[in-house]
Amino acid sequence: MARGFFITFEGGEGAGKSTQIGRLAHKLRDKRYQVAVTREPGGSPGAEAIRHVILSGAAEPLGPEMEALLFAAARSDHVEQLIRPALRRGKIVLCDRFVDSSRVYQANVDAALLEEIERVSLNGVMPNLTLIFDIDPEVGLRRAAERRGADQADRFEKETLAVHRRRRQAFLDIAIKEPKRCVVIDASADADAVENAVTAAVFGAIEARSDVDAEAAQGA
Ligand code: TMP
Repeated sequence: MARGFFITFEGGEGAGKSTQIGRLAHKLRDKRYQVAVTREPGGSPGAEAIRHVILSGAAEPLGPEMEALLFAAARSDHVEQLIRPALRRGKIVLCDRFVDSSRVYQANVDAALLEEIERVSLNGVMPNLTLIFDIDPEVGLRRAAERRGADQADRFEKETLAVHRRRRQAFLDIAIKEPKRCVVIDASADADAVENAVTAAVFGAIEARSDVDAEAAQGA
């Protein structure tokens, strides 16, 4: 069976992940790879419904544990409905946020509980490569506000700068802990420079997995 390649994009708000995912998808398709672009929370109909509940803030009164369970439920649906089938068909899956966002944003939940719901929701599916977009949160939040309008901030963008700074460090700590899977991208650079860094990391990792190269390029 063809094996695909799973790439996740992580980092703070306004780091430019979606722009870069679009550019990368284009480049990969030009090279005849089959690509699936998706995001979390969401990516499947069930998970998109949960996304709305979480990001509107409607689940906030339920407390951090229940919110973490909702993210995990959305992830489970997304993994089983979209990600695993796409990988089985040999596709390259590009996902805007995944499990590292739960590790970082839901860090106030008991670590053992978080680990257990992570195990259940992933059910053996982990990214082959994770790009961590690193940016000063002050710059990122400004960009996110310009994009959405300052009064349109979601449940997580509204948190204090100190919280966003802690999250930036938590993403960098994951990269230090899992250097084989994670590459840190300087997201403060201009979009073309970021694109070059992303391209180098992705094609390097794909070439290191020559079976994906061959099978996906043939449209398996
Ligand atoms: P975004 O689509 O603008 O990135 O918004 C998603 C928000 O949800 C973002 O603030 C991060 C947050 N989030 C979590 O807290 N936990 C998660 O597991 C995921 C995937 C996202």
